[in-house]
Amino acid sequence: MCGIVGYVGTREATPILLEGLKKLEDRGYDSAGIALINGGDAIELRKKSGRLDNLRRHLVNDPARGACGISHTRWATHGPPTDENAHPHTDQSGLLARVHNGVIENYQPLRDGMLARGHTFKSQTDTEVLAHLIGECYEAEAGAGTPETRLIAAVRKALGQITGAYGIAVMHLDAPGFLVGARLGSPLVVGLGKNENFLASDVTAIISHTSRAIYLNDHDLVYLTASDFNIENIEGGTAAYEVSQVEFTAEAAELGDYPHFMLKEIFEQPVSIENAFRGRLSDEEASAKLGGLNLSPSELRDIDRIVLCGCGTAFHAAMVGEYLIETLARIPTEVEISSEFRYRNLPLDKNTLVFTISQSGETIDTLAALREARRKGHRVLGLVNSVGSTIARESDGGVYLHAGPEIGVAATKSFTSQVTTLALLALLLGRMRHLSLAEGRTILEEIRALPDKVRQILTLSDHIKRIAECYLDCPGMLYLGRQFNYPTALEGALKMKEISYIYASGHASAELKHGIIALVSETCPSVFIAPKDTLLEKNISNIEEVKARKGPVIAITTEGCTEMERIADHVIYIPPTLECLSPLLAVIPLQLLSYHFAVAKGCDVDKPRNLAKSVTVE
Ligand code: M6R
Repeated sequence: MCGIVGYVGTREATPILLEGLKKLEDRGYDSAGIALINGGDAIELRKKSGRLDNLRRHLVNDPARGACGISHTRWATHGPPTDENAHPHTDQSGLLARVHNGVIENYQPLRDGMLARGHTFKSQTDTEVLAHLIGECYEAEAGAGTPETRLIAAVRKALGQITGAYGIAVMHLDAPGFLVGARLGSPLVVGLGKNENFLASDVTAIISHTSRAIYLNDHDLVYLTASDFNIENIEGGTAAYEVSQVEFTAEAAELGDYPHFMLKEIFEQPVSIENAFRGRLSDEEASAKLGGLNLSPSELRDIDRIVLCGCGTAFHAAMVGEYLIETLARIPTEVEISSEFRYRNLPLDKNTLVFTISQSGETIDTLAALREARRKGHRVLGLVNSVGSTIARESDGGVYLHAGPEIGVAATKSFTSQVTTLALLALLLGRMRHLSLAEGRTILEEIRALPDKVRQILTLSDHIKRIAECYLDCPGMLYLGRQFNYPTALEGALKMKEISYIYASGHASAELKHGIIALVSETCPSVFIAPKDTLLEKNISNIEEVKARKGPVIAITTEGCTEMERIADHVIYIPPTLECLSPLLAVIPLQLLSYHFAVAKGCDVDKPRNLAKSVTVE
């Protein structure tokens, strides 16, 4: 949450910072701001509430120049999204500027103390308090060393007094061409260029300038000039780091010809699913190869319980994973919402394998779950998309999704990549236990067929758009599915509510009569995920129950299941596949339904209100 971009070099910083912020806008879009040093006697500070375009327009009338600057796009925590609360914030002297991603938990007593010492604050933010604190520490260092060494010492001292999480970038007018960054709990990446260096919350912000990146660890402090950088521990000790080559190109994070990232990412799924299984299928063993797990065959055999943790869409993927692992490998599996896992002290024995699932690899609740499990001495694996992210680096092993950057706030391709990799895990564990060679081969064959089947479903986009347009006035929607497609129903409902702001809830179909059916009416459509599987007849009975109460029904079923035409108002056909893989196909029409519905309602599908792509606060 919140995006930071810093630049120090020889070029004009404003366009570089704005371009970087544009790439990070999915992390927060309540306000944006920049601060530059240009040799003048004041920091050039421009900030505006609302979208980045407001700041852009403001800069046209009131340009800011300089080759060293910091910038920020905000997801509001402390204080509403106003111009005053927008970052960067300055200290009491006005000579120091700072941007922050995270939360300073003890900001109130610090603020009270500084108020008593005569400080005046312009905003309600915790960030301004830390800016003042660093400024105060900087003043206390007067006479000790250069402005640069004073600033480093001041950042260190101030950070030593706070509790909370932060990714920060700081600069001081006395030290032009010099940036300090630090992280604890919120991501920060250093980009290394030629006669220029960068700081950012995510590499997507700097990838068009450099592909050489250093992912900072918690407690790291970095200082940068145009030609040099240094990374230390926040206490002043040495810090280990490595320079990574970023895998994806700047184009991968561009819209191309698509009107929205969400649609682009929905249409990328044939390729992203293929990338999730490419090189990981073994025909000889009729199994999967997941070397990144870092577990020997005997360690894999010893696993007698699995716990899968995630939030939002990743949690829904984990639920599909539970069905997959229990069905194919017969290993008892539990799914935990990361934030619950962290605080509930789940009993875990030594043969329990914990998996954290996260697209961004930065979700604080999932990261905290990972750390809690590791603290208890468990080996924790990660199923992560963002290479170099904190969860990826802190896991004992894992599987990368290789889905490419997912920019739309609504997760789409990450869900199908997560489910695909969980299917590979279930296949691998199953083949070490009960699954026969023939069963393994059938699963491999069906996994390989998925990309083409997804392509086929994508051709139904216009048909699904027409269905969506029939229900634009509905107050809410119900999503119903059974077994493997109960999580699919939850995921479909989440997609609908997060981007169109109508109430939508997902349920196991049989739960209808236990209360939910009270919501059925002529204006509340029910979306049934009812592929041709062992429970099709049961789903059909539930559809009949809804129809008997005049509820409209949109049914997703398997090609050939024409009896659905008789009872449902709208039918969307998906190709046949194994029951255990059906969520990978059934979710695609649900993604398209929510996308077309939200677009027709005029909603901003890529940046839905109140949300952010990467949730780095608790
Ligand atoms: O990056 P993560 O996968 O850890 O994110 C988890 C959730 O925040 C995320 O899936 C969220 O629910 C999406 N907006 C859903 O579309």
